[in-house]
Parts: sequence; structure tokens; C-alpha cells
Amino acid sequence: MLNFNYYNPTHIVFGKDRLAELDNLVPKNIKVLILYGGGSVKKFKTLEKVIKSLPGRKIVEFGGIEVNPQYTTLLKAIKIVKNEKIDFLLAVGGGSVMDGTKFISLASHYEGDPKDLLARDFQPVPVKKALPIGTVVTLPATGSEMNSGAVISNDGSKFPVFSPLAFPKFSILDPTLTYTLPAIQVANGIVDTFIHTIEQYVTYPEEGRFQDRTAEGILKTLIEIGKKTIDNPRDYDARANLVWCATNGLNGLIGAGVPQDWTTHMIGHELTAMFGIDHGQTLAILQPSIWTVRKEQKWKKLLQYAQRVWDITKGDEESRIDEAIKKTREFFQELGINTNLGSYGVTHDKIDDIIKALDNQGLTALSETRDLSLEISRKILEDAMDIK
Ligand code: NZQ
Ligand code: ZN
Repeated sequence: MLNFNYYNPTHIVFGKDRLAELDNLVPKNIKVLILYGGGSVKKFKTLEKVIKSLPGRKIVEFGGIEVNPQYTTLLKAIKIVKNEKIDFLLAVGGGSVMDGTKFISLASHYEGDPKDLLARDFQPVPVKKALPIGTVVTLPATGSEMNSGAVISNDGSKFPVFSPLAFPKFSILDPTLTYTLPAIQVANGIVDTFIHTIEQYVTYPEEGRFQDRTAEGILKTLIEIGKKTIDNPRDYDARANLVWCATNGLNGLIGAGVPQDWTTHMIGHELTAMFGIDHGQTLAILQPSIWTVRKEQKWKKLLQYAQRVWDITKGDEESRIDEAIKKTREFFQELGINTNLGSYGVTHDKIDDIIKALDNQGLTALSETRDLSLEISRKILEDAMDIK
């Protein structure tokens, strides 16, 4: 097992009807900025309930944070934070709202140009103080509710932003708040959680037995409840399991002490930035092709994945791996997600542009061993183009 630091200060409040807890979680007699997205929280009355649960605080609202939160929109919120002397930020929404709120929290106390905070890659941003954040989660997917990262969009590219100050102080996870999600967003969330887990698990063996078994538990749970929670959105237990898997897929636990490979996410972010394909969908398109092209490098962990997650024990090693890749692709398709780039209107001639974008972003040496070059990315994209 590799050396690691594990730090996670987020207080999780999980379960039905927990919004009233906000009154205990948010300090009294302060000014709170509530942030939300395109309006689903108004439509489904979550915002109303949140405000009701915060008596005695001065409430200011900032709506309109886009899917894939835009830097320029977040700048407007930062202005409000400064003008109104906001004390606390409360994100009510999915990953985009939580990520946008983290950026606002970090940038509000940064003296330089906020754009600097987009240029740090996976290094912590140079911020010494941040506004405290709480979240009320309405979409299980990103794990943003219990991690210290955000992904911010600007000028047609996506940028990771990290800081230990970005952990939410608390997150309320009430699975019933997610019942109103459209089926495709639930499917996106299942795939996102699946791939977060995969990217910390299907690398090379490193004797992280707890991490591997926990990752396998998340993957098997998603396979068990994935289709069920799409077909029966109000099945509380199925949805509760999705919500808790999503949080634990990316809160640092399963990735501590093991190698990580964020290739799928890195290429996926470019597909979102260039073609507007949903985050979860980009991952479903890429993962089977990444494994097809990178079978040799991931041989041992793919075999372990085939056996422990899909119970594939018969046949020679390569056929077991191929079967696991096929089953993974079918799982995504059963959730209602197309797994080839072509079906999103991306044509072969766009591959050059994608490679150029990866090059511009410095994504030229990806994977757990940094040997995934632009030529290999090209092969992956070519493989991902057509229906299988
Ligand atoms: O904007 P509103 O009107 O609220 O509608 C949203 C949005 O259209 C809707 N929605 C959310 N909760 C709902 C609901 N509709 C009905 N009922 C509800 N309860 O769902 C749509 C998608 O929301 P969004 O927040 O964009 O989705 P998601 O949670 O998948 O977040 C995606 C963003 O997270 C980033 C992605 O890059 C992308 O920008 N990621 C963040 C990560 C992190 N912070 O650790 C890691 C991830 O890998 C990911 O990159
Ligand atoms: Zn993701």
C-alpha cells in the first residue's frame, strides 16, 4: 500500500426529512447566500423548505449557476458576497452548484485575479481563507458534497480547482430530494459514481485490500440498484444506496494508498467542453474503449474486476477481460446511455480537434503510469466512435 494522508472534515446528515437540521448546522444571526442552478429547486420547492429551515438569518439568493458552472457567472456571485458581506454559503443542487459554490468560497477571499485559481491543475490553490460552505444535495453523482475539489468551466475548457478549505462544513443528503430527477440525470449519476470508483481501482495491484473490496462493494451495489432506481425513483432504499455510493465514490476513502488513473475524466471533460455532452455520458463512452486499448497495462486488475464484480470465472484470461468490458458497456446502455461518440453527433474528423484540445490542456501523459500519450488517446477516441 502507498503512503497517504486522509483528511475529511465534512459532517454528513443523511436520511429523510433532515432539512430542519439546517437550523442547527448554520450559525445563527448571520448573512447566508443560498446558491442554486437553473430552477429545479424552485420548481420542486426545495428552496422554499431550505429558507423556512433558516429562521433568524438574513438570506440572499443567487440562482442561475449552469450545468458545468461558468467562471463568468461565478464572478457575479463573488461580487454579491463582497457587497453584501456574506458570512456563509449554502449550495442547494447537484455537482455544478456545489462546485460553483466552492469556487466562490475560495475566490471571495483571494486578493489576486480569481482566474489564477483555474491554473493550478490538481495542486491546492494559494488561498489561506475561504467562506464556510454547507450543501443540500439534489443529485447523487459527483461526491462534491464530501470532497475538496471543483470543476469550473471557462472559455470552452474545464479546470480542476482544489483546496483543503473547500470541504463543505456539512452536507445534507436526503435521498427523497432526488426523486424529481429526470431518468437521464440519475443514469449520469450512476455512471459518474461507477467511473470514480473504477479510476481508483482498475489500475495495477498495490495490496490495497480494504480499498479494493470497498470499491468492489460500491460497483456491485450500483449494478444491483442502478436500473431499479431509474425505473422506481421513489424506492427509498434503492435511491439511498445510490446517494451513499456516490458520496463514498469520491470522498478520498477508496483512493487513499492506491494508484489512481483519471484518464476517463480528463478526456471526458474535453468532450463536455467541446460538444456539450453530459459528464456521465462522456465517461460511459470512453471507459470501455480505454480498457480495450489499455488491456495489457491493466490486465491483473481487469481480471480481478471480472471475477469479483461480474462473477466471471470461466474461459481464458483475455476472454474473461473482454466479457467484463462487454458487461460494463451493456450496463451503461441498460441505464439508457449511448456508449459511442458517433451517436452524440461527433464525427471522425473531430478527433483531430479533440487531440489538439488535450494537447493545449497539457493532457499528454495520462494514466496511473503517465504513459498514455496523445497517440493512445487518439486510438481510444477512434475505438469509441462507433456502436458496439
Ligand atoms: O440546474 P437545475 O435547474 O437545478 O437542474 C439540474 C441540472 O439541469 C438538474 N437537477 C439537479 N437536481 C435535480 C435536478 N432536476 C430535478 N430534480 C432534482 N432533484 O440536473 C441537471 C444536472 O445538474 P448538475 O449539477 O450539472 O449535475 P452533476 O451533479 O452531474 O454535476 C456535474 C458537474 O460536476 C462536475 C462535472 O464536471 C460537472 O461540471 N464534477 C465535479 C466533481 C467534483 N467536484 O468532485 C467530480 C466529477 O467527476 C465531475 O467532474
Ligand atoms: Zn465524474
